[in-house]
Amino acid sequence: MHRPITIAVLVATLLAAGAVGAQEEPKGVVAYRIAVMRTLGAQMMAVKTALTESLEFVDNVKWHAAVIEDAAKAMQAQLEDLFPKGSTENSRALPTIWQKWDDFAAATDRFVELAGEFRKVAEGDDDQAMLAAFAKLGKKGCGACHEGFRKKN
Ligand code: HEC
Repeated sequence: MHRPITIAVLVATLLAAGAVGAQEEPKGVVAYRIAVMRTLGAQMMAVKTALTESLEFVDNVKWHAAVIEDAAKAMQAQLEDLFPKGSTENSRALPTIWQKWDDFAAATDRFVELAGEFRKVAEGDDDQAMLAAFAKLGKKGCGACHEGFRKKN
């Protein structure tokens, strides 16, 4: 009768032990900037879906674009606070960020610029232009920075 419960407890204990052994949760500034990045990822996914699959939401692209541009500008203004030297614990941030800080800052400036272009186009009603500006932002904004400054995994 009691056996299933015992097994359940055992499994739970093993899972808990496994969790302790796994990589720790990011904390503080690392947790914060990852949350910001994930927000950007969600906005980009929403835009992609609205422009390619669920066109009934295409009017929302302008507010997604506004969120992205606002976030990009905040990132630019707070870059040193978001990426304090050596903040690599439980993080995929590469040391290259601090070794080549000027390049990292330039990548952020480029991101802000492309986010601004995308927002401008998104305020119009040319879906093809939006798609082109969106692709450029993803590749040369997000992608370019991830390429040189983020660990692959
Ligand atoms: C200036 C550089 C830079 C730009 C621009 C940038 N990122 Fe990142 N991104 C990073 C770095 C560095 C990390 C790793 C952060 C960490 O793990 O501490 C990261 C991490 C991420 C992650 C992973 C979060 C997780 O779950 O671990 C996502 C998703 C992401 N970025 C999405 C985006 C999107 C979408 C854009 C563009 C709209 C973007 N990023 C623009 C540098 C950038």
